[in-house]
Amino acid sequence: NFVSRPKLPRPKINKKIRKDEPKVADTFDIEDLGDKVSLCRCWKSAKFPYCDGSHKSHNKETGDNVGPAVLCRKKK
Ligand code: FES
Repeated sequence: NFVSRPKLPRPKINKKIRKDEPKVADTFDIEDLGDKVSLCRCWKSAKFPYCDGSHKSHNKETGDNVGPAVLCRKKK
């Protein structure tokens, strides 16, 4: 017989950043970003939305392979 199991809640990616907001979204003025900026994609950074290198310990602990989005201004 087929036994249906209750659906388990799916794990959340964001464990602690700005949990009081319905959606964490950030807007940047491109002119203010300088020549290079690294944006966190692992949701572990204490400087979110900027990368502070926390992805390295996350990857080491979990075997994951996440890293930042690095935006660079084209050299003229
Ligand atoms: Fe999150 Fe680097 S700290 S990508």
